[in-house]
Amino acid sequence: MHRTIHDFFSKLGLGTGTLASWRGGLSAAVAGRLLDVASDSGINLIDTADSYASGECERLLGLLLRDRRGRFSIITKVGYVSADVPGPLHLLNPLFKKLKHRLGARQDFRPDSMARRLQRSLQRLKSDHVDAFLLHDPPAHVLSDGSLFHELSKLKAAGLARRLGISSGDDEALQLALAWPDCDMIQTPLVEDGGLAPSLRAAKAGRPLIILNHVSLGGRLPIGCEPQSSALKKWRESIDTSATELGVSPQAALLRVALETTGADSVLTGTRDSGHLAENCRAVLS
Ligand SMILES: NC(=O)c1ccc[n+]([C@@H]2O[C@H](COP(=O)([O-])OP(=O)(O)OC[C@H]3O[C@@H](n4cnc5c(N)ncnc54)[C@H](OP(=O)(O)O)[C@@H]3O)[C@@H](O)[C@H]2O)c1
Repeated sequence: MHRTIHDFFSKLGLGTGTLASWRGGLSAAVAGRLLDVASDSGINLIDTADSYASGECERLLGLLLRDRRGRFSIITKVGYVSADVPGPLHLLNPLFKKLKHRLGARQDFRPDSMARRLQRSLQRLKSDHVDAFLLHDPPAHVLSDGSLFHELSKLKAAGLARRLGISSGDDEALQLALAWPDCDMIQTPLVEDGGLAPSLRAAKAGRPLIILNHVSLGGRLPIGCEPQSSALKKWRESIDTSATELGVSPQAALLRVALETTGADSVLTGTRDSGHLAENCRAVLS
């Protein structure tokens, strides 16, 4: 049977940026139901990061994936400084992380820390591999000498990460990643006009995979307000047309329009609401 990339990374993926947040994280039961709605509706892609709730999000997923791992591909990311206090105090890790960031230690891309940090993610996820391991918003200068890419390629060769890549909206970093032969995946936000960063517009179709995150542009892709530029006005019209055709809300239609307009492979939704998730699946996967 011919398999496509969407058998591993569905067009709609579930983002977990706020699933286990310090204040207002979901209980394991509610988060488990969200994962079941996702997989029943055709999602097989979960996006996370070691820094989400300072490891607590990966830990929650590890618990939930115990009997669901075969249903999902997991992307995790590395780059932001977290706290990693073991034992009962681990619940305070999100607080310790915030403190570290306040003190100026926000990111860490030391090449020799990558293997250890992926191993820690795998322990929390209770998994022997991740389906993709991405650098989380790396500044271009950490990529320029190639040593970080070299360390990551070793992790792929060891089978710990099936695919590699970066999550970034920075065009200089994206250009460096695109020149790396092991770059299989790029996760990226939309730029101001609702399109892709310039280097991605020029990238060869099909390689690397492009996954969109944060598609609402922090609310600037106008839903419920007057668009400022002609590019955004066009976006707004397509969203409204698509919402009417599909019988879904503009928020859900936005995900589909983002995919169609950019030609990206997948788009993430950060919803924590099962009803919204089912609607977003209807918009993108129907
Ligand atoms: N640097 C990076 O690598 C990076 C940056 C940003 C995001 N990400 C990834 O991308 C994921 C998604 O990005 P995001 O967290 O910015 O989330 P998003 O999907 O752009 O927006 C989430 C917001 O949209 C609302 N929403 C979603 N569907 C809706 C619907 N049908 N109707 C009404 N409201 C709806 C959600 O509210 P409800 O919960 O009420 O539905 C939530 O407030 C993240 O979770 C993370 O995995 C990565």
